[in-house]
Amino acid sequence: MKAAIYYNNGEPDVLTYKDVADPEVGPNTVLIRVAYAALQGGDLLDRRSKPASSESPNIVGYQAAGVVEALGAKVDNLRLGDRVAGFAFAGSHAELFAVEGEHAYPVPDGLDLSVAAALPIEFGTAHDALFEYGRLKAGETVLVRGAAGGVGIAAVQLAHQAGAKVIAIAATPERLNRIAAFGADYVIDYQTEDVVERVKALTNGRGVDLVLDMVGGDPLFDACAFKARYGLVGAASGMSTKFGFLELLHESLTVFSFMYGKEMGTPRVRACIADLMASASAGELTMPIERSFLLEDAGAAHAFAETARPLGRVLLKIEG
Ligand SMILES: NC(=O)c1ccc[n+]([C@@H]2O[C@H](COP(=O)([O-])OP(=O)(O)OC[C@H]3O[C@@H](n4cnc5c(N)ncnc54)[C@H](OP(=O)(O)O)[C@@H]3O)[C@@H](O)[C@H]2O)c1
Repeated sequence: MKAAIYYNNGEPDVLTYKDVADPEVGPNTVLIRVAYAALQGGDLLDRRSKPASSESPNIVGYQAAGVVEALGAKVDNLRLGDRVAGFAFAGSHAELFAVEGEHAYPVPDGLDLSVAAALPIEFGTAHDALFEYGRLKAGETVLVRGAAGGVGIAAVQLAHQAGAKVIAIAATPERLNRIAAFGADYVIDYQTEDVVERVKALTNGRGVDLVLDMVGGDPLFDACAFKARYGLVGAASGMSTKFGFLELLHESLTVFSFMYGKEMGTPRVRACIADLMASASAGELTMPIERSFLLEDAGAAHAFAETARPLGRVLLKIEG
């Protein structure tokens, strides 16, 4: 099969387009003939810093959608030709993507594979951060940092639909206008505005009940209300978040984090993803797709995702 692989970490041009061996089909494998792979924030970070093996080709990529090409003997809930989205910790940037049976999610009729390719991680992570861990309730205020990204724009939609007030942080007025149309009540351009000052002004000095932080670096604890919850979801900036006990103590803050990939095969999360797929199929949720590239142009796709300030997702369209 063809794949976009890398041997050394680095800039997008470390990705090369090559013939590699097809993935092996084990007893619990679902082999997907990929139609679309959606570039994840984690794909960009992995290419940059996940140690690359010098012996086997390193195929980056967490998520793709397509049709079932082959099935392991133990997978009994799918058939050849079924439309699925799949998750694995690597391998989506290829014509064939091998995932474990519990990480293949049926795509309902009426939902385009290009949207399904950008759905389970994005909406699932946002859903768990808001509700499973963040305990968001109607009427509360949530601050979404990294709102232009895949997880962020999903969080804006889900929080709005749950009856929360949504404050979204991202760069560029043009993107912020678009984010508002997805359900953000207020938007803040962190490049030109003082985020904490704006949040305090928007909340009558109180602060927000919940923060979803997909960016990392210095935390926005000063934007939090007493007893707020702060979700450390990601570190798209490449900087991890450091903080001390006293920063949490004075306002009785709760900090949480989670590795969504570890739960994506559980019945709870599979049911949640099925519900999210159904909502997307009904047109109630959507993921903006900024641009599609061919697999052979994966390096250009990564460069675009990193530098062009897309909203939502960048796709690889894979013609196997
Ligand atoms: N905990 C989990 O299980 C889990 C699951 C999924 C994803 N994640 C993590 O969550 C983060 C967001 O994921 P995603 O897929 O939504 O990412 P994404 O689509 O790449 O979006 C990241 C957003 O972060 C903002 N950002 C701010 N500073 C940045 C910088 N220096 N470099 C790049 N982006 C920067 C960008 O918006 P602006 O241009 O407006 O700054 C961008 O829209 C990633 O770190 C990812 O690894 C964690």
